[in-house]
This record gives sequence, C-alpha cells and structure tokens, in this order.
Amino acid sequence: MAGTALAHPNIALIKYWGKREAGANVPATGSLSITLDALATRTRVEFDATLARDELLLDGKSDPFTLARVTACLDSLRAIAHDARRARVETRNDFPTAAGLASSASGFAALVTAASAALGLRLDRRTLSKVARRASGSAARSLCGGFVVLHAGRDDDDDPAAQPLLAANEWPLSVVIAITTRAQKETGSRAGMQSSRGSSPFYSAWLERADHDLAIAQAAVLARDFAQLAEISEHNCLKMHAVMQSSRPPLIYWNGATVECMRRVRELREREGAQVFFTIDAGPQVKAICVPEDAARVAAALGEVPGLESVLTSGIGEGARALQTEEIA
Ligand code: PMV
Repeated sequence: MAGTALAHPNIALIKYWGKREAGANVPATGSLSITLDALATRTRVEFDATLARDELLLDGKSDPFTLARVTACLDSLRAIAHDARRARVETRNDFPTAAGLASSASGFAALVTAASAALGLRLDRRTLSKVARRASGSAARSLCGGFVVLHAGRDDDDDPAAQPLLAANEWPLSVVIAITTRAQKETGSRAGMQSSRGSSPFYSAWLERADHDLAIAQAAVLARDFAQLAEISEHNCLKMHAVMQSSRPPLIYWNGATVECMRRVRELREREGAQVFFTIDAGPQVKAICVPEDAARVAAALGEVPGLESVLTSGIGEGARALQTEEIA
C-alpha cells in the first residue's frame, strides 16, 4: 500500500535557532510560524518487503545525505507500526530545494504524513508533529496550518509538538517572497546551530530573550496587531542573524540583494505607509509579510531590486494532509 501527502513550507516570524543538549532534536528556542499556501511538497511512500534498504528520489534524483535523514524518520514510524519493511520514497518540490525556502519543513511534514498513511497508522497531528520534529524542527510546524507555535523543550517536556495558534482564514496575511538566488546554501541549519551554540558570544543573550519575544508575538497575532508583530518579528530575525554572523566561522546567509530588499521593505513601511515587514531564514531569500491590500505594490517594489531572480506571492495555507491519489506527479 502506498500513501501520498502534500505539505507546505512555513516561515518563522519568531525563530528556532539552537538545540537543547538533551533529547531528540529539541529546540532551545520557541518559534512562531506561518504556513505558506503557494509552495508545496508532494510525497509518495510505499513500503515493500522486497527492498533491502530505503530508496529516495528527490525531484527525480537520488540524494544520499537526505536519504539518511529520511531513513531515521521512517524508523520512528516503523517502530510504532511494528513493521520492518523498507520504503520507496518519491518526493517533489514545486520550488527550489535547500535554498532558504524551508524545503526540509514541508519535506519531512509530507514524509511523516504519507508514511503513516502507507503504514495504516492513525496517528494524531501531535504525534506526527513530534516525529517530524526529530528530523527537522521546522517540519513539526508544517503539520499545522495558519499561525503555528512550537515551544522550546523544557525539563518537564523534552518532546514538544507544534500547536495551531490561529487558523489561516482568521488573519489572512500575504507573503511576498523575493528569491535572490536559486543556489543551494553552504551550511545547513543543523551544522549552523551547532556552530552558533559553541562559538557565538551572543548565543546566551539570544536564548535569554527567546520566550519573551515569543510571548509578544503570540499576543500580537491573537490581537491581529500588525505593527506589534512587525516590530518583534524583524527584531527577532535580525538577532538570529547577529548570532549566525558572530559564529566562528561566520554564517553569512545574505547577499547584496537580500540587504537591499530589507532596506526597501523598511522604506515601504516607514515612508510609503505600507503594512509590511521582512523576515529571513537560513538562506538569502527575503519574505515580506504584508496585508493583502499591499501585496501587489510590495511585489512590484521588490521586483525592481537589482539582482533579484524572481518574486512570488503566497497566502497562508493549511497543514500537511494525506492525498487520496496514488500519484504525485
Ligand atoms: O528545522 P530546521 O533544521 O530546518 O531549522 C530551521 C531554522 C530556521 O529556518 C532558520 C528558523 C525557523 O524557525 O524555521
């Protein structure tokens, strides 16, 4: 039996950057994200008793590095199902992989959803979110739609799951994504977080204020307070990049167009009255979150930034879901 699923990437407004020492991939900072409806990963998983090992095709190509992470993730589900069969996994992104567009988030959210369907498991979203989190922290959030919170691990809960905060239609914001390059990033988030924890002099300050930033952002979302969400999100994003840039060796994910997009977003807000703010993950792309009425002019303004590859606009989407079809092409 095969299972298929679709999941969207999400972008964090309050960032997860850093892991706790103990536990299975447990975030040291809580995060708040929005799930994007314009981008999607589709995944098909088929367990087959004749396979000696798992197989993976990612956008039509084999990928040994990702395969090891896929196998570790499937092992958790095989243990729950008491089923040792290996699987054939085929997954497609309709956007560039590993370029700061959260392909690991949608990828692992789609994987756990498709694999649990293929195994006939009826796991609730919390359990799927925990299994996805062990593979990629941000993937835990793509199980849910709308505005989503993933708390940091604590001594009394070192296995957190993401929780929905507000549904997509309860505050329908737009996200303009400025793609500054399609090249894959040099340092993945796992290695980057480890380096920051061990070498950035700002890391402890980052951890200290994380709960505070998350609480302000959660209150802003529940109150639909755009200005408050804008202020805390940009601040939190720039703090994370300060930690990245002050790591040794430095993690500089930005290029010239990234910086120019940030400047332009601030100008749109402060001088031209648009309701917009930026955020940037571990990559060079800039995501401008705005009210839907301002999306066209934000997209037009960012489209004029020199060196930009392309601009696309997304709404807020739903969580990962199993598909009724056997095909993903
Ligand atoms: O979950 P990972 O390993 O893809 O790391 C996510 C890290 C950031 O995208 C930079 C922040 C976040 O909260 O998504």
